[in-house]
Parts: sequence; structure tokens; C-alpha cells
Amino acid sequence: MDFNEVINNRRSARVFNGENVSNKQIEEILQSACSAPSAKNRQPWKFYILDDEQKNHIMDMLFKWDKLNPEEQTSVKGSAEQIKSADKMIMIYSDSYKSKSKNRNYKKPDYISLGCAIENMSLQAINLGLGSCILCDTLYIENEINEYLEINNFEQICGFIIGSPIYNYPPKIKKDLKDLLLN
Ligand SMILES: Cc1cc2nc3c(=O)[nH]c(=O)nc-3n(C[C@H](O)[C@H](O)[C@H](O)COP(=O)(O)O)c2cc1C
Repeated sequence: MDFNEVINNRRSARVFNGENVSNKQIEEILQSACSAPSAKNRQPWKFYILDDEQKNHIMDMLFKWDKLNPEEQTSVKGSAEQIKSADKMIMIYSDSYKSKSKNRNYKKPDYISLGCAIENMSLQAINLGLGSCILCDTLYIENEINEYLEINNFEQICGFIIGSPIYNYPPKIKKDLKDLLLN
């Protein structure tokens, strides 16, 4: 696929058709994350590839949280539906800011590095004919997920779902560049 096509075809996939994502495809997506730039080359990313049972458990926890917290009016239920539909889910962690760093100048650069890695994953998914979606709604139950996965020393960044997408995306509505220029 042409580079601009990869960029322009990237959308957050909401519904998947149930086809399997292979281990090789997961590896290619994660290898792309590892190629991303990072501040001082710290490569602060860590990945937890969930098995089906773990993915379903996290999905159930999100549905449960949504039922117990209707007043919060979040997109958690929608994210849980997306997890249900997706074939695979990866939890993304940072190993730097929370665990090692005493330097306040690590925090933003490391988040930027993680964003670079996650975007590489999204673009590689498109390149492989797959779809993906970043899910920060997992952070509503960050502690519960970390406890369940027995993750203590890393900071949860987001979930990332992958599957073979059903292309029912609404039109891509993006701000006009001319409205974004500050000078
Ligand atoms: C940091 C980040 C967090 C996101 N978290 C969620 C989420 O929790 N649930 C969800 O359905 N989509 C989530 N998304 C996807 C956005 O809703 C989506 O990127 C946005 O609506 C633009 O659509 P597009 O990705 O198709 O261009 C997230 C995206 C980013 C970059």
C-alpha cells in the first residue's frame, strides 16, 4: 500500500468481522512499535499480549464498571463492545516515568515516545490489511486491570485492539490545517 494511502486509511476500527489475527501479524505490529523514535532512545514501551480469557475478563470488568457508574457518561460501554468484537488486545505500558524516573523532564517526552510507537502500530495494522483502535477507556479501571495482570512497576498507557475491520466508518471529520496554524 502506498504511504499516503496508509496514512489516509487509518481509522479507529469499531467493529470487526471475527477473522483471526495471526501471531506473525501481532509480531509485525509490535516490531513497528519498536522502530519508533523515543526521547534519548529510552524506548519506554512495554506490551502485554492478552489471551482470550484475559481479554474477555477485561471486557467484563469494563461492562461492569459502566453499569455501576452511569452518571459518569463515558464511552466505556462502547469500548467494551469494541473489545468484544476485536480478535486481539494488547495492553501498553510505560516502563520509564513511574518506575525509574526522578527527572521531571522524562514525563512528557516519554508520553510522546509512546504515542509515536502506538501510531506505528496503528499504521502497520493498516499496512497488513487489519484495523485497530487505541482504547484509553481502560484507564477507568487502571488499577483493577493492573492487579488482575499482576503488573506493579509499569504505568498503564492504554489498550490496543486489533482485528479484521468491517469498514462502516463515518466520514473522517478533521480540522482544517489553516485553522490550526498559530502564526
Ligand atoms: C489517546 C487516544 C485514546 C483513545 N481512546 C479511545 C477509547 O477509549 N475508546 C474509543 O472508542 N476510541 C478511543 N480512541 C479513538 C478516537 O476516538 C479516534 O481516534 C477519534 O475519534 C478520531 O477517529 P479516527 O481515529 O477514525 O480518525 C482514542 C484515540 C486516542 C489517540
